[in-house]
Amino acid sequence: MDETPTIKSFYVVLTDDARMKSFRFEPGQIAQLSVFGAGEATFVINSPPTRTDYLQFSVMKAGEVTERIHQLKEGDVLGVRGPLGNWFPYEEMKGKDVYFIGGGIGMAPLRTLLLFMLDNRRDYGSITLLYGARTPVDLCYKEELAEWGQRSDMDLILTVDREFPGWDKEVGLVPNVLKERAPSPDGKVAITCGPPIMIRYTLQALAKLGYRDEQVITTLERRMKCGIGLCGRCNIGTQYVCVDGPVFSLSQLKNLPAEL
Ligand SMILES: Cc1cc2nc3c(=O)[nH]c(=O)nc-3n(C[C@H](O)[C@H](O)[C@H](O)COP(=O)(O)OP(=O)(O)OC[C@H]3O[C@@H](n4cnc5c(N)ncnc54)[C@H](O)[C@@H]3O)c2cc1C
Ligand code: FES
Repeated sequence: MDETPTIKSFYVVLTDDARMKSFRFEPGQIAQLSVFGAGEATFVINSPPTRTDYLQFSVMKAGEVTERIHQLKEGDVLGVRGPLGNWFPYEEMKGKDVYFIGGGIGMAPLRTLLLFMLDNRRDYGSITLLYGARTPVDLCYKEELAEWGQRSDMDLILTVDREFPGWDKEVGLVPNVLKERAPSPDGKVAITCGPPIMIRYTLQALAKLGYRDEQVITTLERRMKCGIGLCGRCNIGTQYVCVDGPVFSLSQLKNLPAEL
């Protein structure tokens, strides 16, 4: 299904029924998808583990592998290697207010955790999603956004970079909207994913609002090859993003060599 002009979502079902039924993963884990003749690339499984009959991936066109995935038709076969990597520490978040901050395709990893939390709603305090894209067309998961906007048990703040005809929600970059809304850090955990520049300014804004590093969680995108800690392609210092990540708290990241 088309999400935006450059992003498509794919519903993937394992060809072996029994393996599909027994396939378990955690919110935030990734998989390597491969297309014959093009190679492999890394994507987050963005359906929640509470929905077990399919896996959803959202793929933004970037180069050869993603281009070939975009050309797949319903019923075509692609390789899935996963689940890989760590996941969002949702157990530690129980009882806390959760503030999601996403930009563009960075909504994919947030989606899996948000849906998981909505499926386990009583375990968490308030849930807020602040999500931005360049234009209204570039927002992913439009149907779900409309649904989430109607829910009484979460708050949705949508923003685009500048004014557009018919757009009646926020206008401004995600970090600026965050500063204006100024959510108190008390009892909260902030989870952010998006383009590196958005993450950089979001982390600065959160620090100014008084969020401690342990209260801030992000996911890292790092080119991967083996996905299982063997090839050394994805390491930052002593950490392998494919095994120790991709999910890190800001306090963990600050102990790594300067990468952000
Ligand atoms: C943990 C993780 C989760 C990811 N989740 C998703 C997802 O859910 N949806 C999605 O669309 N993409 C995701 N990506 C990015 C995706 O893996 C790359 O876009 C993809 O590998 C590009 O492959 P390609 O052959 O099409 O392009 P390539 O020809 O390999 O690259 C095209 C361009 O994209 C850049 N690029 C490639 N890989 C990365 C990367 N990992 N980080 C930053 N820039 C990169 C290259 O430098 C180049 O400029 C994720 C990456 C990681 C590491
Ligand atoms: S991708 Fe090979 S070590 Fe991480």
